[in-house]
Amino acid sequence: MSLRGRDVISISDFRRNELERLFRVASSRFQGDELRGKVIAMAFFEPSTRTRFSFETATLRLGGSYIGFEYTQATSLAKGESFSDTIRMLDAYSDGIVVRHSIEGAAKLAAELANVPVINAGDGTKNHPTQAMIDLYTIWKERGSVDNLVYGVLGDLRYGRAAASFLKALNVYSPRKVYLISPEGLKPRQELLDSLKVPWDFADLREVISELDVLYATRVQKERFPDPSEYERVKGSYRIDSSVLKDVKETLMILHPLPRVDEISLDVDSTPYAYYFKQAANGVPLRMALLSEVIP
Ligand code: NCD
Repeated sequence: MSLRGRDVISISDFRRNELERLFRVASSRFQGDELRGKVIAMAFFEPSTRTRFSFETATLRLGGSYIGFEYTQATSLAKGESFSDTIRMLDAYSDGIVVRHSIEGAAKLAAELANVPVINAGDGTKNHPTQAMIDLYTIWKERGSVDNLVYGVLGDLRYGRAAASFLKALNVYSPRKVYLISPEGLKPRQELLDSLKVPWDFADLREVISELDVLYATRVQKERFPDPSEYERVKGSYRIDSSVLKDVKETLMILHPLPRVDEISLDVDSTPYAYYFKQAANGVPLRMALLSEVIP
């Protein structure tokens, strides 16, 4: 069950025991030389703060180095070079490629072209496997288990790859219930609903909030709307603030892959329910675990 040399494209490619192995490695001590002499290529074709910087930090903390571009205009992509040729070059220069792209399937294509492992750092609207690993790791670490909890997944379940990946990740666990909470127009695509193997239901936030152990919030994915007027219709249509959190379990965990826009009000940050900054911090040890297990 070694992950050595594996591509990381979709969270659904991972078994529960593989995920839990990563969680154990993430929570253990690293030597700091696991990636000594290795070069990781950071191929971010889309904006990123946490994912990129935590992959870079993870690489450096394991004694490795990284190469990457700040923006694609700084590379020969600006001269018309293709994605494929760019990936071929990074394959020749590095020991592993971390790819983020706006187009669904970009990471899979990169994995087909490259000999070195490719890690999907989010492509299109469906897959963001390492974010889902961080989300599960945070729950596992804080609650001791991912099973038997009641989950609410709030927000843009149509275009959000973090939410979609989190939902698919729950398939290898036994949640008591998963509530899908999204405005009309941002409901999950049928394909995602069909893939869920957990007990789920549509719900309204205020009706179920007191039942929840975990509330996973996401922003409206403005950049993925085919029609800007459709975005205008749904923006700001949900918000977690102290008035929503009046009758909740003491142990409620609010997660968010970040960035937030206005869906979690700032006054929630100082409540005991706010776990999203801890979750973001967990990106470094989890990605250290992943890199140390995957890079040959
Ligand atoms: C997410 C993404 O890029 O899909 N960000 C992240 O990696 N934490 C979520 C988002 O952009 O809303």
